[in-house]
Amino acid sequence: MIELQRIGKTFQTGDTTLTVLHEIDLQVGAQEFIAITGPSGSGKSTLLGIMAGLDRPSRGRVILDHVDITDLSESELALFRGRRLGFVFQSFQLIPTLTALENVRVPAELCRLPEKLKNAENLLERVGLKDRAHHYPTQLSGGEMQRVAIARALITEPAIIFADEPTGNLDSSNGQKIVELLLETTRSSALVLVTHNPALAGLADREIRLRDGHIVETIVKKKSRTGSSGPSKPGRKKAGKTAIKGKKGKR
Ligand SMILES: Nc1ncnc2c1ncn2[C@@H]1O[C@H](COP(=O)(O)OP(=O)(O)O)[C@@H](O)[C@H]1O
Ligand SMILES: [Mg+2]
Repeated sequence: MIELQRIGKTFQTGDTTLTVLHEIDLQVGAQEFIAITGPSGSGKSTLLGIMAGLDRPSRGRVILDHVDITDLSESELALFRGRRLGFVFQSFQLIPTLTALENVRVPAELCRLPEKLKNAENLLERVGLKDRAHHYPTQLSGGEMQRVAIARALITEPAIIFADEPTGNLDSSNGQKIVELLLETTRSSALVLVTHNPALAGLADREIRLRDGHIVETIVKKKSRTGSSGPSKPGRKKAGKTAIKGKKGKR
């Protein structure tokens, strides 16, 4: 579902070249849940942005849902993102002039997917905001805005969901609700989540640890739900191609 081939990212500021990602290889299966962890500044958000087609790599290729997006034009990429991907940003990026319900409906309207509009009410209910449907973002708390953003990410029933610290602004009971909703989506979608929360990372099929732009460790938590169900022993693998390629062939 996701294939990263030798992804590198450098930023040029004045005379200095900063290499933020080094030769990242990664494959993610169709219903796999990947947690990306690592210290602040290790490249998590940059990697997520490149995986999600929001940012371009300096080197390497990104293949999503069988489409090599590396060389797509901005407009092709925008349409692909809108129809196939869902995003939960760290800053929620809700539209202030629209109600919660209208915000949730935006991706389906932008990408002309009218058959998906009916999902909006149900998603708001599932994030516990049925009674806030007609409130504007300024009338919502940070945690409520976060939940609207999550409902919005799911409205198109995307093949892949990307989330950067989605439980950061949620108290524990709402955080739990969101975690359940996200886990439920992995029955039909891949989920790539950046998190500092060890309990959340513990729920993933694999945890990818970054440090200084390298994958330093891949921790396999349990068998992918796409395979035979049932618990399996968690394992730790050192970073490297062997650890990643163990998952090859899964779609
Ligand atoms: N647009 C940019 N220009 C220059 N440096 C950047 C830019 N975006 C991120 N960086 C740098 O890249 C590194 C990784 O950032 P980021 O991916 O946001 O890390 P994380 O999400 O793990 O905290 C940081 O050192 C950050 O300062
Ligand atoms: Mg970040």
